[in-house]
Amino acid sequence: MVDNFIQNIREESPTLQKKIFLNHASRGPLHGITQKAIQEYSEYWGEFDFEESNKVFQEARGKFGKLINAKEEEIVFTRDVTSGSRLAANMINYDDKSNIVCYWNDYVAQVYQALFLKKTKNIEYRPVPDQKNCVVAEEFANKIDKNTKLVLLSHVQWLSGCRADVKEIAKIAHENDALIAIDSIQSSGALVNDVKEWGVDFLTCGTAKWLLGANQAGYFYIKEDHISEFDPPFAGYHGVDPGSHDQPYWNVNELIYVEGVSKFMDTNPSDFLFLVKVWI
Ligand SMILES: Cc1ncc(COP(=O)(O)O)c(C=O)c1O
Repeated sequence: MVDNFIQNIREESPTLQKKIFLNHASRGPLHGITQKAIQEYSEYWGEFDFEESNKVFQEARGKFGKLINAKEEEIVFTRDVTSGSRLAANMINYDDKSNIVCYWNDYVAQVYQALFLKKTKNIEYRPVPDQKNCVVAEEFANKIDKNTKLVLLSHVQWLSGCRADVKEIAKIAHENDALIAIDSIQSSGALVNDVKEWGVDFLTCGTAKWLLGANQAGYFYIKEDHISEFDPPFAGYHGVDPGSHDQPYWNVNELIYVEGVSKFMDTNPSDFLFLVKVWI
């Protein structure tokens, strides 16, 4: 049965008909459904319609939400894992005792957020050691304390394939009033991701791996309770309410965010997100 399953995947992928794909934890091979979505999108582009495109984006948010057991109202588009990790890491208020915790050898989409905040704001970075190449909750418990503001962690490690016990690490973070952001790019589409069961605050993902999509098309989950608690840490325009004013379109006198999660959208979403219409 597994053989048939794998055989079907091979037959549906133009890449796998020509090459043997050894998973290198980078991008995935082209799948037939993605190829079909790209072809459909090129036709759609010729007839581009803003209202229709908004509907497609709305639907895509719902689909990403379903994938990780979140509500559509908790999902916003981003470009990649890094933009989501960066968003989470920069929304938080730090003081001179604060620290950030990451697995020492995690993907740099995580580690570099901690190193950036260390460099620019002198926030303490606490790298967590592994045990035999694996991420273990016990080592996180040794590093997280009441001054920890954020834990950044991949669900599945890019180098070792090790799966973290996200639920347990989230529990340790919350017991210390810290928040936790999960990078799910090495697992979304391949393994069950359940943000409610895990109890995480943020999740960041791109579509280029197990979701069979493209680079520069990603999504970010922010737990409903945090949406009003945080504001976007960077200026953008997509999450701004043009409002009613005497300017031609955008309000150029004042920055007023839209209600809800969309305030975290900075610019236009990636055209590759249109593909979600067909591929997820
Ligand atoms: C765990 C992990 N996170 C993130 C990425 C990619 O980051 P980004 O989407 O920001 O390019 C990779 C790519 O290999 C990865 O393995």
